[in-house]
Amino acid sequence: MTKIFISCALPYANGPCHLGHLRSTYIPADIYARYNRMAGNDVLMVCATDEHGTPIAVKADAEGKEPIEVAKRYHDMIVEDINSCDISFDNFARTTDEIHYQISQNFFKYLYNKGLIYEETIQQLYCENCEKFLPDRYVEGICPVCGAEARGDHCEVCGRALDPIELVEPKCLTCGNTPVIRDSTQYFFKLSHFQKPLEEYISTNPYLPPNVRNYAQNWLKEGLQDWIMTRDMKWGIPVPLEGAEGKVIYVWGEAFIGYMSSAAAWSRRTGIPWEDYWNGHVVHFIGKDIIYHHSLFWPAMLLGRDCKLPDDIFAGEFLSLEGRKMSTSKNWVVWVADFVKDFDSDLLRYYLTINAPLNKDTDFSWDEFQRRVNDELADVIGNFLHRTFTFTKKFFDGKVPEYKNPSEADLEFEQAIKELPDKVGDLIADMKFREGLVEIILTAKKGNKYFNDQEPWKAVKEDMEKASNCLYLSNQLCKAMAVLLKPYIPNKADAICNIINIPTENTWDDAKVFLETGHEINKAKPLFKKIEDKVIEAQKEKLYKNLETQENESKDDKKDDKKSKESKDEGEKMDLISIDEFAKVEIKIGKILECEKIEKSNKLLRTQIDIGDKTIQVIAGLGKRYAPEDLVGKKVPVVTNLKPAKLMGELSEGMIMATESAAILTPDDCEIGELLM
Ligand code: MF3
Ligand code: ZN
Repeated sequence: MTKIFISCALPYANGPCHLGHLRSTYIPADIYARYNRMAGNDVLMVCATDEHGTPIAVKADAEGKEPIEVAKRYHDMIVEDINSCDISFDNFARTTDEIHYQISQNFFKYLYNKGLIYEETIQQLYCENCEKFLPDRYVEGICPVCGAEARGDHCEVCGRALDPIELVEPKCLTCGNTPVIRDSTQYFFKLSHFQKPLEEYISTNPYLPPNVRNYAQNWLKEGLQDWIMTRDMKWGIPVPLEGAEGKVIYVWGEAFIGYMSSAAAWSRRTGIPWEDYWNGHVVHFIGKDIIYHHSLFWPAMLLGRDCKLPDDIFAGEFLSLEGRKMSTSKNWVVWVADFVKDFDSDLLRYYLTINAPLNKDTDFSWDEFQRRVNDELADVIGNFLHRTFTFTKKFFDGKVPEYKNPSEADLEFEQAIKELPDKVGDLIADMKFREGLVEIILTAKKGNKYFNDQEPWKAVKEDMEKASNCLYLSNQLCKAMAVLLKPYIPNKADAICNIINIPTENTWDDAKVFLETGHEINKAKPLFKKIEDKVIEAQKEKLYKNLETQENESKDDKKDDKKSKESKDEGEKMDLISIDEFAKVEIKIGKILECEKIEKSNKLLRTQIDIGDKTIQVIAGLGKRYAPEDLVGKKVPVVTNLKPAKLMGELSEGMIMATESAAILTPDDCEIGELLM
């Protein structure tokens, strides 16, 4: 028996849960936890709301409330969301709990006393209008590394942690003023000190999945910088040192410790030491936007604190919604609380698991959701269960029949049932949650085929043995599924157990034990109803209505769409786009008036293009194929509503459309300024 410590990234208490939270952390963690409990391992699964930091302080400011009120409101909502989806945390705490303050302050002092935290005067952004320093998300600007819009301490696009002072064109979030730079004394953590041990940890830890390892290794190559651990603000955990009045611990300097303090609170309640779990096997489930923090900062803090490091950091990639990046500010989001009003949460657990492996970006689409529920849950699993149960009732008086003189087909099906528990279990243990579920579906499909081939409705009249064998085995698969589906869809699994008339609490190995001949089952009820088109249409309408109202108001739209494309991994393409999405791209016929080579570049050309109503400058990568003079006078299609960008320091206001090999298209028959549709 192994002791396993499972955590989910602590959600900020500044909004309720949406499908993204569920998909990247809660559902996979819960599948893993439930499976391990059933497999006889000793699991402690914890989480908490992350209640400090500027996101909550900013929100509270905006509402004219105290941060703790805002945090409490969202904490309660989050707990409700999590419960509604049956996420089986052993403890769900808050980073504003007393015990969290104690443990975090002790942690800080421990590092300080070891000389791993030191004081230094640095320059920080200060807003003269608001008369305050602007830590983290109190400031917005442009990421100095990738050029995307970034909030203070973190660039969502390239995933880096930033020092707000590095931001290009910083703006105070509260008043919009450009802040000035002022001296301030802060405490720093010697992250750089851990370069070597972290390299070692990242390269030798056998569990780290490739996405986490790769990201971390790339950042390690850039070299680790010491890390500022304090902030001048009121909301947060006071720095427990003399002379540090008015300073709080940076939220990322204490949030991780929530894993431990939540566990410690559990220990207080149960009397069982949580440390044994930490010293067992530790798995952090996180979203991919915080790999940096979990693979580098946190292990360094733990090394400094002389603690064991996490064994596995499992990072779920992004979930998009109907092909677009989710955005809570634009209401392009499906809230868990809304979802569970209309659907069984198990359907969501099913869909978000089966849709794509966690290490791939994936999309939630209402049509896909309907299709999978109807074609897989209802038609494959539901149908197999239902026909087995009703047939057993009707022809065998509700009792599992005898199994005698099995045929070739029986033996083959029996084998498939017997192999299933280990197959699925091994996959889950190996974090391959989707693959495990796929095995169950495939076996149910096999079951349906077997049932059809055996034609028990005929056999009951002609060959009773054949019919008995068929229903004996079919009931065995139903039972195995009742057990094996539990980590995935716990409510439905319980409902199946109730029909089969077995307890709902089972060990994994119970799936291998066959029901005895004569075992009586209960009356069948349909378990998976199909979702009608009109229900899905209503959901889509609701969602798209949000978008339309937002779109008219929001200027930020294009910029966000760009981000969403950049944040996708190469190779992982979105499905189809709608005509509306395509229509956003404005393409016009332009005429190249001037063209010259850009020095220091072997392919970039600077062109001036007449697009009818004006002339724009476009930097085009066509220089390998064309000499500048060849292009002058040519008509070309140009994308004219791209956000301007700088290439090698040169402004580019559009894009000449060309093929992959940089061959231009020459629309000689078109008029200048004509729009392409
Ligand atoms: N609240 C942070 C976020 O949502 C995650 C904190 S994870 C922790 O990005 F481990 F630091 F708590
Ligand atoms: Zn300001």
